[in-house]
Amino acid sequence: MHGVGKQEFFWGAATSAHQVEGGNRNDWTEWEKNNAQRATHGAKERTWPDYLLGKHPSPLQEENYISGRAADHYHRFREDFDIARSLGHNAHRFSIEWSRVEPEEGVFDERAIGHYRDVVRALRERGMEPFVTLWHWTLPLWLRDRGGVCAAEFPELFARYAKRMAEALPEAAYWITENETNVYTGHGYWRGVWPPEIRSFRKFFLAYRRLARAHRTAYMTIRTVNSAAQVGVAHNMLYFTRFPAALKSFFWNRLFLNSIRDCQDFVGINYYKSDRIRSAQSDMGWGIDPEGLYRVIRETARFRKPILILENGIADARDAGRSDFIASHIQWMKKAMAEGADVRGYFHWSLVDNFEWDKGFWPRFGLVEIDYQTMERKIRPSARVLQKLLTEHSDAR
Ligand code: BGC
Repeated sequence: MHGVGKQEFFWGAATSAHQVEGGNRNDWTEWEKNNAQRATHGAKERTWPDYLLGKHPSPLQEENYISGRAADHYHRFREDFDIARSLGHNAHRFSIEWSRVEPEEGVFDERAIGHYRDVVRALRERGMEPFVTLWHWTLPLWLRDRGGVCAAEFPELFARYAKRMAEALPEAAYWITENETNVYTGHGYWRGVWPPEIRSFRKFFLAYRRLARAHRTAYMTIRTVNSAAQVGVAHNMLYFTRFPAALKSFFWNRLFLNSIRDCQDFVGINYYKSDRIRSAQSDMGWGIDPEGLYRVIRETARFRKPILILENGIADARDAGRSDFIASHIQWMKKAMAEGADVRGYFHWSLVDNFEWDKGFWPRFGLVEIDYQTMERKIRPSARVLQKLLTEHSDAR
């Protein structure tokens, strides 16, 4: 990676625009309204795992389903970055909301772009390296109406947006074009339960192919605008242990990365769980398997690129298991590093509690708790555990 001392390690947390900013208008906010209505009429309970019903706000509570003000991060980003800095973070991953900067096709909003300039500046002022995600699942409405990621012109439209942002943010060195194309296409086009709710193999593969091309085109574009930029994706990886594990790893973990392999300066891993822990260990029912992080890092090493852990976290409202979660995952990550894996950073998901897509507000992923009534921020004890570990790591170097 150019411009990065090999000894420098990035420690931080991640967020995405739609999940924390508040006040957005995009394809998801439109979908949320329908989702809430369906929930109110009892038809959408499949988004609420049975074992959680009763433990969390009822699906009849519409306010849970509408992102609305979210964590009001759009207005409070400086306060949130102050907290991140006080926790010792030296980097932060955030995403740009495409629907804000290009609200109409081809018309860029300078004020909205200025906001993200302020975000990058605020990070730099605090000594934190910005990691910019261009697309974390939400689409402007005009693009949704043209067919979303399946539109033939999607790669060019995405590259135009990427170009504009790379020009506007010359201070940003790290760019993540797309977040978890596998999760997005899986839920949106294979299972058909997320926007655009299309259940079709043909469209699923089309979306996959278009997203791969959009990445490649944006990669070239960003590197042309800023030759020092480091560009990659954030890819969801699972540790598969059950038959046919090798096949599943190939399709889920590597197929997309293979298709963009010549167009990435680093490989970004988002890791949450494996398929071998069946007991529900997080509020969302996910099993915790820290060894899986080690396994997916090893799997990724074959690309011979620097590796960044761009997401890793747990829904844990009581903060009962997050400290152990963090410590054990970092321990396994370090084992991989000691064995030679070129890992350059760890970003916890999330900095603050976030709106969780089709689940709403009840899953709590934040190192920092949000009181959604008052918007008060409260540092969770587990955030201090991460701080201690990253301080020890830096002191040891
Ligand atoms: C996504 C985040 C999400 C997290 C927890 C990741 O797959 O990138 O947006 O909040 O999982 O579900």
